[in-house]
Amino acid sequence: MGLNKNSKIFLAGHNGLVGSSILKYFKEKQYKKIFTIGRSKLDLTNQLKTEKYLKYIKPDFVIIAAAKVGGIYANQNFKAEFIYKNLMIQTNLIHASYKAGVKKLIFLGSSCIYPKYCKQPIKEEYLLSGKLEKTNDAYAIAKIAGLKMCEAYNQQYKLNYICLMPTNLYGPNDNYDLKFSHFFPALISKIYNAKLKNKKFIKIWGNGTAKRELMYVDDLSNACEFFLKKKTKHTLINIGSGYEDTVTGYANFISKKLGIKLKFIYDKNKPTGTPRKKLNTNLSKSYGWESKTSLSKGFDITFRNFMKKK
Ligand SMILES: NC(=O)c1ccc[n+]([C@@H]2O[C@H](COP(=O)([O-])OP(=O)(O)OC[C@H]3O[C@@H](n4cnc5c(N)ncnc54)[C@H](OP(=O)(O)O)[C@@H]3O)[C@@H](O)[C@H]2O)c1
Repeated sequence: MGLNKNSKIFLAGHNGLVGSSILKYFKEKQYKKIFTIGRSKLDLTNQLKTEKYLKYIKPDFVIIAAAKVGGIYANQNFKAEFIYKNLMIQTNLIHASYKAGVKKLIFLGSSCIYPKYCKQPIKEEYLLSGKLEKTNDAYAIAKIAGLKMCEAYNQQYKLNYICLMPTNLYGPNDNYDLKFSHFFPALISKIYNAKLKNKKFIKIWGNGTAKRELMYVDDLSNACEFFLKKKTKHTLINIGSGYEDTVTGYANFISKKLGIKLKFIYDKNKPTGTPRKKLNTNLSKSYGWESKTSLSKGFDITFRNFMKKK
């Protein structure tokens, strides 16, 4: 049965950056039966409890936005947790969904699954064509395993479990803790604090030349709805905005938005990361999906939410 406003949808990870956007988006679109459950009631690393829960609610669709996520510092220093928790959460959810009779599932990965020195823009077929970036290889390997698991289940059990691979995301409810955040929320937080404390400079990790594609998180929620409705031949689909700049370019953009002039000091002892990660989105476009929100508009909404939480 196709997706409709009465479909039962289980959304895992509804409190996170992506999950909270999906929940808001689907509620606004009048989907009436969205199931969510907090981590204190269901730890998704627990196989038995995850299977019991899915058997009990019997969803028509599952979206996996639960994961152990973080920026370069967290990925580099907590590799064991990144590989263990992600493998457990996704394996439990994919297998439990299959056992509960779920025919369509969305598993969210990340563009870091692709090789460090990949041809650009990155096509889906470049997966496993070279070495991964060292700082996040544990996370990437877990995500690649999730993708391969979906492919295997689709082939053997005739399912349509798809993996959307979004580029870097930002939006309301992001993590601004400098140790655990991604580069964009970290820049917002550093530049805002510099303005507050009348500082003349901020430190930027690495040399600031790494190029990043950035997408507003509600565009991913829109892609989730779009692809839940579509039967796809492909399991792996890139989701990008096409908007790209250097880390320094984004720092300039935020400084301008906040009306502050800053000097950037580059901490070359810290990693710069993969030089460029721009996704080729011809495949998602061929299905009829494209990102819509401009950086300026997405930033304004995000910054209002950032200030509300201060
Ligand atoms: N952020 C990005 O830039 C980005 C880019 C591309 C792809 N993605 C993908 O999008 C997905 C979601 O990322 P995000 O940025 O939204 O992460 P996030 O903000 O850290 O949210 C992760 C969610 O997972 C839940 N969770 C983690 N471990 C759990 C467990 N053991 N049991 C139950 N729930 C658990 C968290 O619950 P609590 O609230 O209890 O902690 C939280 O709600 C990930 O698969 C990620 O790879 C993110």
